[in-house]
Amino acid sequence: MELLIKKGCIVNTDSTQQADVLCKDGKITAIGKDLEFDSKPDNIIDAGGCFLLPGGIDPHVHMHLPTHAGYSSDDFISGSKAALYGGTTTIIDFVTPQKGQSLAKAIELRKSEAKNCLTDFSFHVSPVEWRDSLKDEIKDCISLEGLRSFKVYMAYKDSIGLNDEALFKVMEVVGKSGGMLTVHCELGDEIDALRNQFASKNKLSPKFHPLSRPAELEAYAVKKAIDLAKKAQCSIYIVHVSAKKSLKFIQEAQENGQAVLAETCPQYLLLNDAYYKGEFEKTAAFVMSPPLRKKKDQKALWNGIDDKTIETIGTDHCAFNSAQKRMGENDFRKIPNGAGGVEHRLPLLYTYGVSKTKISLNRFVALTSTNAAKIFGLFPTKGTIAIGSDADILVWDPKIKNTISINNHHQNSDANIYEGMKTKGGPKMVIKNGTVVIENGQLIKNPEKGHFLKTNPF
Ligand code: URP
Ligand code: ZN
Repeated sequence: MELLIKKGCIVNTDSTQQADVLCKDGKITAIGKDLEFDSKPDNIIDAGGCFLLPGGIDPHVHMHLPTHAGYSSDDFISGSKAALYGGTTTIIDFVTPQKGQSLAKAIELRKSEAKNCLTDFSFHVSPVEWRDSLKDEIKDCISLEGLRSFKVYMAYKDSIGLNDEALFKVMEVVGKSGGMLTVHCELGDEIDALRNQFASKNKLSPKFHPLSRPAELEAYAVKKAIDLAKKAQCSIYIVHVSAKKSLKFIQEAQENGQAVLAETCPQYLLLNDAYYKGEFEKTAAFVMSPPLRKKKDQKALWNGIDDKTIETIGTDHCAFNSAQKRMGENDFRKIPNGAGGVEHRLPLLYTYGVSKTKISLNRFVALTSTNAAKIFGLFPTKGTIAIGSDADILVWDPKIKNTISINNHHQNSDANIYEGMKTKGGPKMVIKNGTVVIENGQLIKNPEKGHFLKTNPF
């Protein structure tokens, strides 16, 4: 099966060129101005007026996440379909074992839950407790399972969060094994104390959610993670950075040559804590951790993108229906945390980043695709338009307009935190593994199931 994409402008992180792209059997096989063929390709696309971008890679999604309010509302099929509509062709989700369960068993189960995923997919693996066997389990994840990224939580101490001692031990092992440790930085004990303090005073509405998770408690967690990782000689990647104060510690560490990488998400760039004012039905959708911050934090995050303190943008996609959010109607602590966004990441960043000249188009590609591929061992199979790479390509039309709404989104939820936001620029076509799967906003062909991606060997 051959596909020829003609007249597009190819944008990679370090180059922009007008050239045709030939794809064969899921791979990019030729790039050039006057490509020659033995026989006419099966499918020829005219991409005139459009950019050709590498398919988006979302390094932070939670599909089918078990919570006290039931599973998050997107499973791997609905969530990955939403991802494709928005130009994301690869997602990295999480393996979160039960306590006492081996990492290998948890990986096996999670792979089976993800088996019908429509995008390609990989995982970060979460040690949720310390045990001595983890030394070998983590090494086996890397050498046998092909998974070299791990995730620890400093919050959620009553379930999956690690204490400092366990965190340090995990860092030592991941560091020695050459893996990457992604870290959810919020000081769990202090947050739990604040949550309970508010509850004891009958302060139970969603507006107390952000007040119980202040920016300082994110920033001090970031500082602690950086200090522990330095001692443990472990590379860390701080997920969903939301606070200006956190950036200061990350910048300092980076200037000192420490391997500290940072991710933020569109919600922290584009929304702020004004959304917590009002009645439950309007505010519960915005309950996520970390919470939305202040305008000054948004500004600092854009600066952090500009000066490269932040190198990736994920979504932390974790959708819920309002009925699920309503579990916390009388107590904000019971509202399941999270919101969807996997479909909107690229159009939002293009509209509010590229078009507003906050970031260049090449930087957009780096932030939404290439950097995640490089950091998580998927490059150059993913994250670039180059000969030999997977043919995951977006035919990006800068003129496509949309108003984000629950009436036209594809995530499985009756809420959308971006409701009413306008975007200009989006994928006219989404090509996954050499096949057009989305055309003019329609899923034209049920895509083949996605592939589980092992990360590159060291
Ligand atoms: O509120 C959030 N972010 N929910 C998903 C789980 C997590 O903390 O990443
Ligand atoms: Zn998350």
